[in-house]
Amino acid sequence: MALTVTPSDLRQSVDWPANVDRAVDQLSRQDQAFGAAFPDDTTVDGRYRPRPACGDFPLGANRGWTTGFRTGLRWMAYDWSGQESFRRGAEVDVADFTRRVEDGLDTDTHDLGFLYTLSCVAADRLTDDPMARGAGLMAADRLMARICQPAGVVQAWGDLDDPAQRGRTIIDSLMNMPLLYWASEVSGRPHYASAAHRHASQLRDHIVRPDGSTFHTFYWDPSDGRPLGGATAQGHADDSCWARGQAWGVLGFALNFRYSRDDSFLTAAGRCLDYYLDHLPQDRVPYWDLVFSDGSGQPRDSSAAAIAACGLRELALHQRDRAATLSGWADRITASLVTAYSHQSQPRSDALLLHGVYDLPKLVGVDEANLWGDYFYLEALMRAARPGWLGYW
Ligand code: GLY
Repeated sequence: MALTVTPSDLRQSVDWPANVDRAVDQLSRQDQAFGAAFPDDTTVDGRYRPRPACGDFPLGANRGWTTGFRTGLRWMAYDWSGQESFRRGAEVDVADFTRRVEDGLDTDTHDLGFLYTLSCVAADRLTDDPMARGAGLMAADRLMARICQPAGVVQAWGDLDDPAQRGRTIIDSLMNMPLLYWASEVSGRPHYASAAHRHASQLRDHIVRPDGSTFHTFYWDPSDGRPLGGATAQGHADDSCWARGQAWGVLGFALNFRYSRDDSFLTAAGRCLDYYLDHLPQDRVPYWDLVFSDGSGQPRDSSAAAIAACGLRELALHQRDRAATLSGWADRITASLVTAYSHQSQPRSDALLLHGVYDLPKLVGVDEANLWGDYFYLEALMRAARPGWLGYW
């Protein structure tokens, strides 16, 4: 069983605060180079470029699903260091996120949670900003509009009347439910939280397979709400287990427990975790799909490891009896990232976490850094350096 470890395995000698400091210094250099322009999803040859122009969006515009991670990085760097330059940068981003949701610019996606939790909800939590709170609530309303009844699931991608996308949801969407729980808290209206609970329950029952692995995406019949079956988009095969999806399952179910206190989400997170840990290679950083192991020659996805480390820390907060074991695993995974996958091993790069994979089947961002990998690397370090710290979810 993956969670059986000896006490000697739990000893670590990483100086977590010093590693947060190093990451924040790296971000400071990156911020000066980018200013208000948003970096692209992934690096090219280890360095970020501005997000390319696309349609009506100019170079460096706030579009796509990953821009919130840059803003979340700025908020974490401010939270840790108190440096006003990070706060100013985050506030410029929050104004842009407000405009984006008001004007409905590239908002037809379940990723509104990633985008608005790490920008506007973080601003609300850290600075009590009414404009950010209003924008976060608007994003929550747009997310609610994506719920397909009678299944009660949030459609992942595309227009709600697109026959190829209707009734399709994905494992990552668990991470977007905290936006709805937060909306219930600040508005006093329980329907957001009820919708989040229904969606997460459907994923618990259908996207998690009997062996604890997960489908990347899953379809429900839009007319009668019947569960139809799973399929991959970024994994190796429909019946394999995409590594980042499994990590989203660990952290996503754990966060859904944080808000709902529904024990079944804790159980689901634990099942995802056991499968994930049982399929790790020697250095505890998974290959991009868990079907691959050492000797496969396949690239790894460091971002999955960073997300899983945050999931372990989140679970440790809720399972006191297993907290030492769960934190021990988080320590070892994060230590492996610091030692062999971080910016410290490649000074030429302007990223924090190297060697991720965005979408291998489409050959996008393979063996490159990416914005969410950087974000969860710093969140993992912050959680290690400040035990009990909850982040902005
Ligand atoms: N949410 C998309 C991904 O993890 O690539």
